[in-house]
Amino acid sequence: EKGTYPHFMLKEIDEQPFVIRKIIQEYQDENDNIKLDADVREAMKACDRIYIIAAGTSYHAGLLGKQFIEKLANIPVEVHVASEFSYNMPLLSEKPLFVYISQSGETADSRSVLVQTKELGHPALTITNVPGSTLSREADYTLHLHAGPEIAVASTKAYTAQMAVLAILAVDTARAKGLELDFDPMQELGIVANTMEALADQKEKFEDLAREYLPTTRNCFFIGRGTDYYVGLEGALKLKEISYIQAEGFAGGELKHGTIALIEEGTPVIALATQENVNLSIRGNVQEVEARGANSMIISMKGLDKDGDAFVIPHVHELLTPLVSVLPMQLISYYAALHRDCDVDKPRNLAKSVTVE
Ligand code: F6R
Repeated sequence: EKGTYPHFMLKEIDEQPFVIRKIIQEYQDENDNIKLDADVREAMKACDRIYIIAAGTSYHAGLLGKQFIEKLANIPVEVHVASEFSYNMPLLSEKPLFVYISQSGETADSRSVLVQTKELGHPALTITNVPGSTLSREADYTLHLHAGPEIAVASTKAYTAQMAVLAILAVDTARAKGLELDFDPMQELGIVANTMEALADQKEKFEDLAREYLPTTRNCFFIGRGTDYYVGLEGALKLKEISYIQAEGFAGGELKHGTIALIEEGTPVIALATQENVNLSIRGNVQEVEARGANSMIISMKGLDKDGDAFVIPHVHELLTPLVSVLPMQLISYYAALHRDCDVDKPRNLAKSVTVE
């Protein structure tokens, strides 16, 4: 039920801090150790490479999952769009582990890869919000997202839950392999939950930004570098699916290789700046598009912010910034769609779970 909310999407955006706290609770034992099925731990330890398979928003979570697993657990990861996997099947390593990320657990494109990799005899782990789902039943192992039912077609809380679970999984694997880490995932996720709450309390600010930047525009570009690029991809998907504004996410460095030709007077560009190592270069990209007439906004992180930034997100651990920097993307998309009278929860041409290939 929506309760007092006008839309499920807004309710689900607001639920994100509670989902993160629920995940902390579900994945922690009474001694504050990570609680995870021993079989999952063994599978993670035993593999020499992880292949993440997913679609849409779950694919975007997978891109960030790759960063967590590679940086923390030191295992190489490839992320593949499910529908493309069989045509562009990579050479597999000797001991692959397939990780299927799916809110619904019913996405046909992912299932068809699962059938294929099971036939090849490779182990499969499904990360899903629906433990009884097809992908969960047919995989060897399942991790539950604990996000509660997600009703709006546009995925929000499942995406942040996927990243939280992937971060916990990465830390657990690192510890199981005896790697030294100075990263306490539960403590850092607790800070993330509080920060999400603070952002969700500032909805008017995001409504104003949507009104100011996206009133009648046909298109909108999201730019970022590194982690911020991946969050930009998700921001663009959110905006296009519910507001029908043509939105694309680009790596800041790729702009000059083509995309910048599209920038004209008033083109909205949303730039993310939450990573110290790319802060100057992404700001340089913003200057480049501004010089061509773009109407740009920068969403930055405390400590990296500069005068004139449209919004400054409170500081969270650098690895976990995508869990919070996506909230402004979700809220700006929501209000842009609302201002255009779009059917926010049920956008045209889309289904909540895509059960055909
Ligand atoms: C975007 C969205 C879709 C899904 C995609 C995968 O907001 O909802 O892109 O993320 O269809 O669905 P699941 O995660 O159920 O496999």
